[in-house]
Amino acid sequence: MALVKKNILKVTPYAAGKPIEETRRELGLKHVIKLASNENPLGPSPRALAAMRACLSGVNRYPDSQGYYLRKALAQYHSVACGQVLLGNGSDEIIDILFKTFFEPGDNVVTSETTFLEYAIIASVYGAEVRTAPLRNFTYDLNALAKKIDSRTKLVFIANPNNPTGTYVARKELERCLGRIPARVAVVLDEAYDAFIDVKDYPASLRYIAGRNVILLKTFSKVYGLAGVRVGYALAREQLIGYMERCRQPFNVNLVAQAGACAALKDREFLRKTRSVVLAGRSFFYSLFERMGIAYVPSQANFVLFDAGRDGVTVFKKLLSHGVIVRDMQQYGLRTFLRVTVGTKRENEMFARALEKVLS
Ligand SMILES: Cc1ncc(COP(=O)(O)O)c(C=O)c1O
Repeated sequence: MALVKKNILKVTPYAAGKPIEETRRELGLKHVIKLASNENPLGPSPRALAAMRACLSGVNRYPDSQGYYLRKALAQYHSVACGQVLLGNGSDEIIDILFKTFFEPGDNVVTSETTFLEYAIIASVYGAEVRTAPLRNFTYDLNALAKKIDSRTKLVFIANPNNPTGTYVARKELERCLGRIPARVAVVLDEAYDAFIDVKDYPASLRYIAGRNVILLKTFSKVYGLAGVRVGYALAREQLIGYMERCRQPFNVNLVAQAGACAALKDREFLRKTRSVVLAGRSFFYSLFERMGIAYVPSQANFVLFDAGRDGVTVFKKLLSHGVIVRDMQQYGLRTFLRVTVGTKRENEMFARALEKVLS
């Protein structure tokens, strides 16, 4: 009898962005920048940092299992009830909770090709079949996606904007698609990057959660600059959140993270600054790519996907030797593409200089 569950043998673990310290050590470089994991280049919000420091002397106690203050603050922020908010140790954990709550053997999940890899990785841990629709123009093709749904589909994942392409689906298309999906299917709208949207027709998705099986995923890892303490949350109707609550660990969001997230939510100035750095950085990258004759995908997120026109892993390694960590797209099957996260102005310029050297 096998020790390990059969499906675990097939799981490909998530490959995280290369850490700065590891790159310094391995390559003997002094100055290394990381533009690989769509983090906030400005650091955490100063208000969050102060709140996290202030709570450190209390870490001998367990955190509030109910996350009372953070859930209350989020409920107020989104004008929903506290019972419509589920906290997670990053939205990654909420994806896992979704499978714990909804998945039964024989069910499948539907998503797109070339999307956030955790959907398929966590699905494979649970032995779920993942049915993927191809992208169209680097964008979720919601028509193709709806056609993949069958009588055993339990969950549909739509990353909006999508990672790693940065593209988004507009309100009309999304509503048409939601209208086609049977009511018994839970539709997950993953909005990790919604703070960086700069278009008018992005869906106001909160209006879909009432009376439907639509679950929104949000995170403090991007615009709020708290990737390292791990906080994400889901918004859905109370009954669904109640079922998901049964499946989470009692202390899944730690004390420091709860304090940091509460304070970050109020730091409107930091959010405004981050957004303006990201929007300016995106334009800087577009101009750079256009000047260099490099094809890129216009993005609504804090990263840009581009086609180096040659082997992406080689370009990644060469950029690394210049102290710049980006992400090659081999795992996604996009052999000549790379994804670069918007950094500070100085970091973007360092990336530009390195790219020009590497591709010249
Ligand atoms: C689309 C998408 N969803 C979710 C996440 C996970 O975020 P968290 O740090 O909250 O687990 C990411 C992280 O990169 C992401 O790109």
